[in-house]
Amino acid sequence: MPTLTINGMTVDVPPGTTILNAAKEVGVEIPHYCYHPKLSIAGNCRMCLVEVEKFPKLQTACSTVVADGMVVRTDTEKVSKAVTGVLELMLTSHPIDCPICDQAGECGLQNYYMKFGLHKSRYDLEDKVHKKKVQDIGGQIVLDAERCILCSRCVRFLAEVTKTQELHFFNRGNHSEISIFPGKPLANDYTGNLADICPVGALTSKDFRFKCRVWFLRMFDSICTGCSKGCNVDAHHKDDVLYRLKPRWNDAVNQAWMCDAGRLTYKAMNEARLLTPFLRDGGDRKIVSWGSLLPDVAFRLKAAADKGGPDRVAVIASPQSSNEELYLLRRFATEILGTKNLAFTHRVAGDGFADDFLIQADKNPNSRGARILGIPDGAAFDALVSKISGGGIDALLVFGGAIGALSEQETTALLAKVPLVVHVGTNEGPVSKAATAVLPSASVAERGGTFTNHAGRVQLFRMGFPARGKAKNPLEILVAMANRLGAGWGFAGEASVFRAIAETEAPFAGMSYESIGMFGQEVTCPKS
Ligand code: SF4
Ligand code: SF4
Ligand code: FES
Repeated sequence: MPTLTINGMTVDVPPGTTILNAAKEVGVEIPHYCYHPKLSIAGNCRMCLVEVEKFPKLQTACSTVVADGMVVRTDTEKVSKAVTGVLELMLTSHPIDCPICDQAGECGLQNYYMKFGLHKSRYDLEDKVHKKKVQDIGGQIVLDAERCILCSRCVRFLAEVTKTQELHFFNRGNHSEISIFPGKPLANDYTGNLADICPVGALTSKDFRFKCRVWFLRMFDSICTGCSKGCNVDAHHKDDVLYRLKPRWNDAVNQAWMCDAGRLTYKAMNEARLLTPFLRDGGDRKIVSWGSLLPDVAFRLKAAADKGGPDRVAVIASPQSSNEELYLLRRFATEILGTKNLAFTHRVAGDGFADDFLIQADKNPNSRGARILGIPDGAAFDALVSKISGGGIDALLVFGGAIGALSEQETTALLAKVPLVVHVGTNEGPVSKAATAVLPSASVAERGGTFTNHAGRVQLFRMGFPARGKAKNPLEILVAMANRLGAGWGFAGEASVFRAIAETEAPFAGMSYESIGMFGQEVTCPKS
């Protein structure tokens, strides 16, 4: 292992490490723009210049591999003058729209200017080179060519990750600019990542632009619910409003990326939410309190099972539910109601498109978890729907906003065959419209738990903020209903439910929230 010193500190690093990454090991920040850990090295922005003993000229830290005995300094006057000079050059033609720029608060130019620049501009306003602003170049992206510092991250992303190559450099020298070919907009499913990797405000998100200043946002770890890949995300919110999702790095799942469809899944957590519990009285909805609704619903479900036999009650689960919720729901169905009529239905979104990168055909985060926990889908679900439509079910508990691929009309017709439909869900939809009782549930941002992705990786998502309106955590709903019927469940929070899963469900044996950690842990069972 080569040993080198950086600003007088000694560090051992694996062979092949660059100075920039070796510096991180000893807590030294080297400013950089064009370097991105998931892209090839371009070495074109010159921000990362450092002094290396015995080298006549300053070296770029992102592209210089360490050698044993190397002596590197990042804190000399020569380095600071060079970095300030590079920034000054970049800012010569940068537009002066900083106060209104939609990248304010997370712009690499602003941040490095405050840390390393602080120079007086020697450039005349009239001499600035003007380029096209606010161009819709397709996908989720707006391009402001004037703000671009020509780092080529976007070009490399489109060449190396999506391999679609829509953006190129045009013209020379001061007039060099980034653009698409005329009439050939961005055409891939991952365009949102361009706004994340552009170090300045040249490529920004159409969806997020001017919605909220980033310094008002807080973030928490979450998992995208848009498909069974389970991309790790940071969810950004202000109070109980979500503003955007950004990929959180996990080399075992999504590397540093996420797809465009997944990025927009946050909207459903803001819009058309079910916020109060209610009962349908004739055609009208009557708002009721949780205190009266929970025992009422629990007793009515149980009474149906006692009266007609457990085969006349059924439970439809959702692969949008967490492992913890599915585990308790299965126990509620089989132990408390005593029924075998339990199956799950897929949320259907789009045409089931998949690619060989991230996007999966199954648009649910936890189908694998549901199956591992013993809840079937497919033929079992079809059989349950036939039973319902044949009038064989008196009481039905439904999690999730839709019944598989059924249209709203078909759902209404199906649910009309059941005297008592109890719905636990987050959004207004065909099921809530037809249900007898609606129990509003916390969204994925408002509760915690685990999902098992398509590859069997169990991943944690965390509660970001309290549930909107009067919505409740579905675990709380299940425990309250079960205990009203004498179950005596002592679960307090999702971690305690997961402990029970790890103790009783073989594929999860030995797992805990601690062992799952930031990056997830795989279940120990063959693909199901
Ligand atoms: S648009 Fe952004 S990412 Fe692309 S070259 Fe310019 S500054 Fe770099
Ligand atoms: S690939 Fe799937 S999990 Fe990942 S961001 Fe897209 S929809 Fe979400
Ligand atoms: S980060 Fe090293 S040259 Fe750009």
